[in-house]
Amino acid sequence: MTSSYRPDDLIATDIAEYLAQHQSKSLLRFITCGSVDDGKSTLIGRLLYDSKMIFEDQLAALEADSKKVGTQGQEIDFALLVDGLAAEREQGITIDVAYRFFATEKRKFIVADTPGHEQYTRNMVTGASTADLAVILIDARKGVLTQTRRHSYLAHLIGIRHIVLAVNKMDLVGYDQSVFDGIVADYREFATSIGIDDFTAIPISGFKGDNITALSANTPWFTGPALIEHLETVPVGVAGDTRPFRLPVQWVNRPNLDFRGFAGTIASGSVKPGDQVRILPSGRTSTVSRIVTFDGDLAQAGPDQSVTLTLADEVDCSRGDVIVAAAEPPEVADQFSATIVWMDQTPLLPGRSYWLKLGTQTVSVSIREPEHAIDVNTLAKLSAKTLNLNDIGVAEIATDRGIVFEPYEVNRDLGGFILIDKLTNATVAAGMIRRALRRAQNVHWQAVEITRDLHAAQKGQQPRLLWFTGLSGSGKSTIANLVEKKLHAMGKHSFLLDGDNVRHGLNRDLGFSDADRVENIRRVGELAKLMTDAGLIVLTAFISPFRAEREMVRSMIPDGEFFEIFIDTPLEEAERRDVKGLYKKARAGEIANFTGISSPYEAPETPEIRIDTSRITPEQAAELIIEHILGVWSPVL
Ligand code: ADX
Repeated sequence: MTSSYRPDDLIATDIAEYLAQHQSKSLLRFITCGSVDDGKSTLIGRLLYDSKMIFEDQLAALEADSKKVGTQGQEIDFALLVDGLAAEREQGITIDVAYRFFATEKRKFIVADTPGHEQYTRNMVTGASTADLAVILIDARKGVLTQTRRHSYLAHLIGIRHIVLAVNKMDLVGYDQSVFDGIVADYREFATSIGIDDFTAIPISGFKGDNITALSANTPWFTGPALIEHLETVPVGVAGDTRPFRLPVQWVNRPNLDFRGFAGTIASGSVKPGDQVRILPSGRTSTVSRIVTFDGDLAQAGPDQSVTLTLADEVDCSRGDVIVAAAEPPEVADQFSATIVWMDQTPLLPGRSYWLKLGTQTVSVSIREPEHAIDVNTLAKLSAKTLNLNDIGVAEIATDRGIVFEPYEVNRDLGGFILIDKLTNATVAAGMIRRALRRAQNVHWQAVEITRDLHAAQKGQQPRLLWFTGLSGSGKSTIANLVEKKLHAMGKHSFLLDGDNVRHGLNRDLGFSDADRVENIRRVGELAKLMTDAGLIVLTAFISPFRAEREMVRSMIPDGEFFEIFIDTPLEEAERRDVKGLYKKARAGEIANFTGISSPYEAPETPEIRIDTSRITPEQAAELIIEHILGVWSPVL
């Protein structure tokens, strides 16, 4: 196997020329899909080797290792190279996707290698989100398998435009054309059914090197292209891109008072000084004055270029805004239908609020129960109440304010998002916006004239939300009730929402699964918020076992008005009292998901008020709470 290009020659003789050549080459990002058994490591090793981008010392080690391990006789075992790199990577804790760089005379490449059989979906989505091309590997002896279908479906879902079907191990089927043709026909049938219109099939042997850099004499019936040749020539980016201009603003560049520029990477379209632009979501318009870059001003800039724009007018524009072609703005919406790929061990909790990051925009979002999940093996739609690790589903999502977006299939940068757990900061999902929901477009905020301040002023008080949390039987209802009696006696306007009571009416449809508890608290939170808007002092007595939902409610209420009151009664004590006899039943296995026994309780870490019921009486607790929230001492009634 020979390669026409040896970058190391040029590196040795003219490093400046080498770098210059390198700079101007286009970059293809691609992903390889397949398992070790399909020969993925061998193929990647082969690509690196044939393009001579392996460092000499690595090569020497590889030759020595291959001889030692001896799985491939005297020949070099390329899988060892990749696996060796994998071992290095493993020391760096958990990077699921390894990116490798190599180059040929014509092009630079970044290949995302997504190892592991488990968690395949997650790894693949991570590696593929920026890829232009996917190499789907098939073992010629096995043909199209379930995993081939899964990889293809995911690649297509993620929006990868070019698919290569690499039918590998042709040497093991005697380079038989009929085997190859049969596999291609099978694959074509499946590909068409999921909307992949076009793919390039190449018979290869990663191990022997057939049809990798050059056409092989072993497959005279194959007219090409060879794999590297194809990788070198496939168009990158969107061919004939006519999409309008979009620039998500990453940061505002303001080195001094005379300069204010908006920096980011152009997601689509092009821009030149004099263009009319609109800033979303505000909708204000202006004109581009300059396109500033590190190397001087530009007359025009296009997709993937990092630029700083200055505008003719003093308009408000900050990180998260999107500067767009004034005449062709994208939509702004706050409710969507989205495809979601769940990537966390902890399943989706419908109703819980997560951070959604879409480009440079970050908003709070909640996800409804999925409309369906998709079985990636059969592509059947399944009914689902949640999404577990590696599940893919379609669900409606609602953001807490409008975001600028385009459907994922139109624009990956403005349609793809990730979801982040607010407490752990882990990325829990990746998603793709399908469309905005029409109902969202027709529901607007109505400006009301009697504001929350006017409501409160008329009642002569400050609204408050006293959020009692604690185990069942901890004393929440008892203490909340005493507090309300005192408030009432003081002439305050209040209302107590109690768990057991609300569950008889508004939340009669909810049980005690994690998802139902999340929904329970979400509704009560919204209700309590409306009641504070009416100027009331609202008391709630719910177990509210999850920190995330308590924090969500906190974030809905103005600073200083929300009081998390932890009724801290240890489980043993609540169980000893067992006022309603429920602990006894739970221990006997008659109640499922009982808090503290078979369902978790996440105690508050920094509540505004903590009541230790083993040290003070309910009466004392109530006084303490009144003093704390009103700043006054109330005499015992
Ligand atoms: S929460 O977890 O969703 O906040 P909530 O406060 O509304 O719970 O309801 C708790 C009350 O429901 C308890 O005080 C108890 O009377 C009753 N209950 C019935 N089944 C359960 C259960 N499995 N876990 C906890 N409480 C339960």
